[in-house]
Amino acid sequence: MNPNPPYPGLFLSFEGTDGSGKSTQMRLLVEHLRRDGFTVVENQEPGATHIGLQIRRILLDPAHQEMAGMTELLLMFASRAQATAEIIRPALDRGDIVVSDRFTDSTLAYQGEGRGIGFDIVLAAHKLALGDLLPDRTICMTLDVETGLSRAHKRNSSSDEQHKEARLDRQSLEFHHRVAEGYRKIARLEPERFRLVPGDGEPGAVAERVWREIAPLLREK
Ligand code: TYD
Repeated sequence: MNPNPPYPGLFLSFEGTDGSGKSTQMRLLVEHLRRDGFTVVENQEPGATHIGLQIRRILLDPAHQEMAGMTELLLMFASRAQATAEIIRPALDRGDIVVSDRFTDSTLAYQGEGRGIGFDIVLAAHKLALGDLLPDRTICMTLDVETGLSRAHKRNSSSDEQHKEARLDRQSLEFHHRVAEGYRKIARLEPERFRLVPGDGEPGAVAERVWREIAPLLREK
């Protein structure tokens, strides 16, 4: 982690394979931080801004089967650059806590490892789009890939249009295993910033594990 970030705020992100419980845990953390009196700004990727939502529609449209891996990668960063300019940077400059549902680590895991584009190319795109901006700490929920996928499929088949069997949910089991390996690789490269948190068990118990990874950073603030 950057010990002296060039802003007064704190940048946190959540990662995980599909159905790992990431979004539930992010909600619980945001509630906890707000109860403790912090101003929290949420970001979601891809999406979050007006422009980002339109990019998200292109990315998730099941009709876009022909989308090339590089197109997917650059659209992820286009959405992220817009969210950074509109939401993340201004909030960090104000001294707020930003909590992002996915960030560049998703692109490393999904496009870099899952699609085989490689970490180097993803990091080059990151540099171009975002410079040095990385979360101060990332919580990556880990859960057995098969269990996560069956959860995600249940959720998608019973939910609204926006989430219904999106293109990116239709990848093979091997793809999702590669994504999980991508996350483990990031954890080996950046053990201080990137924390793997087991997602099995009661949501409250998992939330306590998450809190233990975040609380020390709040004391430093
Ligand atoms: P979403 O419905 O937001 O899924 P989740 O609730 O799991 O976050 O869809 C986002 C999908 O996009 C998800 O399958 C992960 C994928 N994705 C990438 O492949 N690369 C990225 O850089 C990001 C941010 C997401």
